[in-house]
Amino acid sequence: MGIDIITPELYETRGFPDDDFRRLRRESPIHWYEDPAQGAPGFWAVTRYDDVVHVSRHPELFSSHARTSMFTELAEDDIALYQLMMLFMDPPQHTRQRMFVNRGFTPRMIKQLEEHIREVAHRLIDEVVTRGECCFVRDIAAPFPLYVICELIGAPMEDREKIFEWSNALVGADDPDYSTSPEDAREVSIQVLEYAHKLAAHRREHPGDDIATSLLEPDSDGKRLSSDEFAMFILLLLIAGNETTRNGASGGMLAFFQHPDQWQRLAGNRALLRTTADEIVRWVSPVNLFRRTALKDTEIRGQRIHAGDKVVIFYSSANRDEDIFADPYTFDIGRDPNPHIGFGGGGPHFCLGTHLARLELNVLFELLLDRMPDIRPAGEARRLRSNFINGIKEMPVRFAPS
Ligand code: HEM
Repeated sequence: MGIDIITPELYETRGFPDDDFRRLRRESPIHWYEDPAQGAPGFWAVTRYDDVVHVSRHPELFSSHARTSMFTELAEDDIALYQLMMLFMDPPQHTRQRMFVNRGFTPRMIKQLEEHIREVAHRLIDEVVTRGECCFVRDIAAPFPLYVICELIGAPMEDREKIFEWSNALVGADDPDYSTSPEDAREVSIQVLEYAHKLAAHRREHPGDDIATSLLEPDSDGKRLSSDEFAMFILLLLIAGNETTRNGASGGMLAFFQHPDQWQRLAGNRALLRTTADEIVRWVSPVNLFRRTALKDTEIRGQRIHAGDKVVIFYSSANRDEDIFADPYTFDIGRDPNPHIGFGGGGPHFCLGTHLARLELNVLFELLLDRMPDIRPAGEARRLRSNFINGIKEMPVRFAPS
């Protein structure tokens, strides 16, 4: 069919391949995708909104166990290491853990973090605002969610640099191909797990006013997360909560640069902040895809899928589905309703950090409007060479010093 939706260089030079996704949605929505260079069987590419939702909501048909990249499986050693991570679990094991950690991420718990999130954003802006220019990714978008997570887990200030480095290493942020070798990921994961075990021991002795402390407490049935489960959860937060929000923030900024009328619109009507974060997440779709594995023979849209087949759901394509969104290729910060699935298709793995990510994006763009209202590009933005994270590596910006 002559389409390419996986070459990382393509994402680096052009952003996600809109034309190919549009064609797939129209002509082959459940498409068998092969790349002989991978030396492994291909996968079903699922590109329409309803089908991504269907796969996400049927874990009994489409498993998250040991899922990894589109072509490969996790190595046995890694399965042993990661099997305690919620992201790789299926119900009922997943349900128990998820119910446990949900307690820390309710809208009420997250709202309590607002003042702190505001402080973090102010502090980062303080550090650059007198200079009149900075790199939006390095100086603002990258440290912002990381410092928020450190607060969330009650990590001491002096550990933040180390945690920042681990987090970057886990996702391969310093690698030109934005990938990390299984060996490096394993080594860093082990360091994070050791750190998290110490944090758990410390928090048990000295409870704080943070989510880590509340997650270590027993639930209403008296059950607790084990230390291993807690440590794995901290590791998951570092993977899932940083890169995503970082690229939501920088992709959102770039979207405003490309649509200055929307920046002016928001400046003139702050009430639009209510809908802005969701439109940014739809537009940017920081997570491009996730992988599942079919557990039994089934069908999607009449296409036969066999047990064991890999199934890849493309959120970025679903978020541009013409059947769901009016003018899907328009960045409209007032879009309402906006049923995007940038945070997942609504199944059991639906993003735990949704409320937090929305709040972070709201606070950040509100403060940028206040403190850098004339922020503008000062050079070309460089995209990530990744087909998993739709992101930006570098984005020089300029603003009036104050
Ligand atoms: C899961 C996107 C921010 C924690 C997910 C999934 C997506 C996603 C698409 C679903 C994966 C699936 O169905 O398999 C995003 C985006 C974000 C964001 C676009 C920001 C704009 C955050 C934040 C946190 C977080 C700030 C936490 C601090 C998680 C966790 C999961 C998850 C723990 C796994 C949930 C589970 O397996 O039950 N996220 N996320 N995310 N996210 Fe987020």
